[in-house]
Amino acid sequence: MNLRRISLLLILLLATAVAVDAQVTKQPFGKTPDGQQIDLYTLRNAHGVEAKIMNYGAIVTSLKVPDRNGKFDDVVLGFSDFDSYLKNDPYFGAIVGRYGNRIAKGRFTLNGVEYKLATNNGENHLHGGIKGFDKVVWTAHQLTTKAGPAVALTYLSKDGEEGYPGNLTANVVYTLTNNDELKIDYTVTTDKDTVHNLTHHSYFNLAGEGSGDILNHVVTINANRFVPTDAGSIPTGELKSVAGTPFDFLKPMAIGARINQDDEQLKFGNGYDHTWVINGRPGVMRFAATAYDATSGRVMQVWTTEPGVQFYTGNFLNGTKTGKSGKAYERRNGFCFETQHYPDSPNHPSFPTTTLKKGQTYKSTTIYRFSTKR
Ligand code: BGC
Repeated sequence: MNLRRISLLLILLLATAVAVDAQVTKQPFGKTPDGQQIDLYTLRNAHGVEAKIMNYGAIVTSLKVPDRNGKFDDVVLGFSDFDSYLKNDPYFGAIVGRYGNRIAKGRFTLNGVEYKLATNNGENHLHGGIKGFDKVVWTAHQLTTKAGPAVALTYLSKDGEEGYPGNLTANVVYTLTNNDELKIDYTVTTDKDTVHNLTHHSYFNLAGEGSGDILNHVVTINANRFVPTDAGSIPTGELKSVAGTPFDFLKPMAIGARINQDDEQLKFGNGYDHTWVINGRPGVMRFAATAYDATSGRVMQVWTTEPGVQFYTGNFLNGTKTGKSGKAYERRNGFCFETQHYPDSPNHPSFPTTTLKKGQTYKSTTIYRFSTKR
């Protein structure tokens, strides 16, 4: 190779590196009450799709995707300033852990030892307790990958934190792929047997956050069965067929079509707030659910390796939170597809296990894929 060719090659390599690098930027977003710096990472893919993620709670604060005419809107609920996230009781955009969803009475027994967790949802434990993974500062660094811009976040949850055994390390990588996917890769390890169930808690509104309720979104869920609960949203232990119930989303159906039916399970959840048992083999990446908004043409598909998906229709939003565009988020202004293991698994030996053994590495991936249709 002559000198000219080598320098051309170098310029080319440099240009590519700069272009790829420009896809992730970092800016200060605020400070926690104890003075820790919070940064916002902006990921932008080759099509201009943009996600903003912060190192507090590993929270996705914004996700801008095009509608069928190429107009970008932010399709996740959230706040415009950091301080509002300190009172983020709906868990907007967060990574929830150590155990996403509920553990009955905050108790479970592992290796003959009973562990007592905080009860922060009536008599039950919800989303990791008083200070779950959504309320801690993660260590973050940006990555440039072949698939697209990414940010890697790590959190070490100490032995005994919120009552859980074991030093547990959670690693979450968000990649905004050039296929317009927000891909979440989880890697979890522990130095002592424990339980875990991390999930992602974005509230979506494909018509744009702040644009009203999501009842006209048309949803499909790839599940023949769901996990019925008692009045406190704790599983009864049964995996029930969706056939003939308002929980049958095997064929596309508007969220609002049956949500007010006289159905005990809908009453217990105040709407949909249940886990569906995704068809196919847990551990294998498969189609979980899709949502379509006819006004914008936006489609979101959810793919996961997890056994279940909690479909929550924002039943407890009540207008007391003001969102990014200055509008109050009312009941059912967003919905969540939280891919996860079933609630209260530590107390249901028949459910897929949420026990992570000392020295084991747990890996899991979930993809939210965006597209449009006419
Ligand atoms: C739960 C809801 C809860 C919401 C916010 C969802 O994952 O299933 O019951 O209200 O999170 O905490």
